[in-house]
Amino acid sequence: MAANTQTIEVPNDAELMQAQADLFRHSLYYLTSMGLRCAVELGIPTTIHSLGGAASVSDLMSSLSLPDNKLPFLQRLMRVLVTAGVFAAEGGSGSGRSTFDVERFRLTPLSRILVDGVVADEHHSQRCFVLGVTSRHYVDAAFALAEWFRKDLASPVPSPFEDVHGARLFDESTPELDPELDAVVNEGLAAHDNLGIGTLLRECRGVFEGVKTLVDCCGRHGATARAIVKAFPQIKCTVLDVPRLVDQAPRDGVVNYVAGDAFQAVPSAQAVMLKLVLHHLSDDDSVKILTQCRKAIPSRKEGGKVIVIDILVGPSLGPVMFEAQLMMDMLMMVNTRGRQRDEKDWHDLFTKAGFSDYKVVKKLGARAVFEVYP
Ligand SMILES: C[S@@+](CC[C@H](N)C(=O)[O-])C[C@H]1O[C@@H](n2cnc3c(N)ncnc32)[C@H](O)[C@@H]1O
Repeated sequence: MAANTQTIEVPNDAELMQAQADLFRHSLYYLTSMGLRCAVELGIPTTIHSLGGAASVSDLMSSLSLPDNKLPFLQRLMRVLVTAGVFAAEGGSGSGRSTFDVERFRLTPLSRILVDGVVADEHHSQRCFVLGVTSRHYVDAAFALAEWFRKDLASPVPSPFEDVHGARLFDESTPELDPELDAVVNEGLAAHDNLGIGTLLRECRGVFEGVKTLVDCCGRHGATARAIVKAFPQIKCTVLDVPRLVDQAPRDGVVNYVAGDAFQAVPSAQAVMLKLVLHHLSDDDSVKILTQCRKAIPSRKEGGKVIVIDILVGPSLGPVMFEAQLMMDMLMMVNTRGRQRDEKDWHDLFTKAGFSDYKVVKKLGARAVFEVYP
């Protein structure tokens, strides 16, 4: 039965006020993103770090050499970023009347991973991740989403990014589109992928114990492979990546490098790892690579397994982690042909690639570690 579109149930007073507040929040979240980008461009996290981990708004004004009349605006930006958890506020008179009543701003874990120019074990500045995902090219692609939905595009369906810009991300066509974007997104991707390697090795020791040979499939310059060998010196580790990447890899003798095409063949090993690779790929391409990985390993009895590290979408870790996973899925949808997958999606991929079984070894934040058996 067709609905009567001439009438509508109007929310009650309380619902209406809440709906309006939710409308403000959801329509304006891009200002949080851009506020975060602004803080990164100005170098606020790095400045607070260089000032000893805490700074007043006046300290920030002088360290960043901002014109005096921008002080009230900087306070307003910081208030939003404190509310979003990017910075923490401390001190103030405590009258409770003013939302600007802050003596100093401190770094939180989130802004600490945005501090740049520091060399420390397990510190990977996420500055370029923020600059990449909030870049004009990404925003332009997201802006064209409705138009992209309406277009009857032939399969395999290009992403909105490809449709708008005529180039693919993380591809040889990206520098032709914009060399600056290419540099930022590659640095951002490396920072994103390197974050949490230490956590993985501490929390999932059992995944690597007893492994004698391992191929890090699509392992880029070998940062993860070198960390694995450092933690588990008994593992002989080989990185497979495209010739362009392998040519630039550091030859320190810690890991072997093989230039090749994971769609064609993966070098043999007891275990093959796919870390943050498949979420960039369509299901068809993921099955092709997983199939090559399966062919490269021995039977389960002989210790053969594929280690997959990727996002496992699901609400079990609470609404904040779930929202982060869904945002990462939208990021993939708008900019790549990949997707973030829930457990059914992973089960289907592993089955199509000919694996007999798998287990989720551990959930590490938004990501999970799987062992997949032939
Ligand atoms: C998202 S990155 C992988 C991240 C990496 N596993 C890590 O955790 O740091 C994707 C990698 O796949 C590589 N790649 C793309 N196509 C490939 C192919 N056909 N064969 C092998 N490597 C490929 C890229 O060069 C890139 O280094």
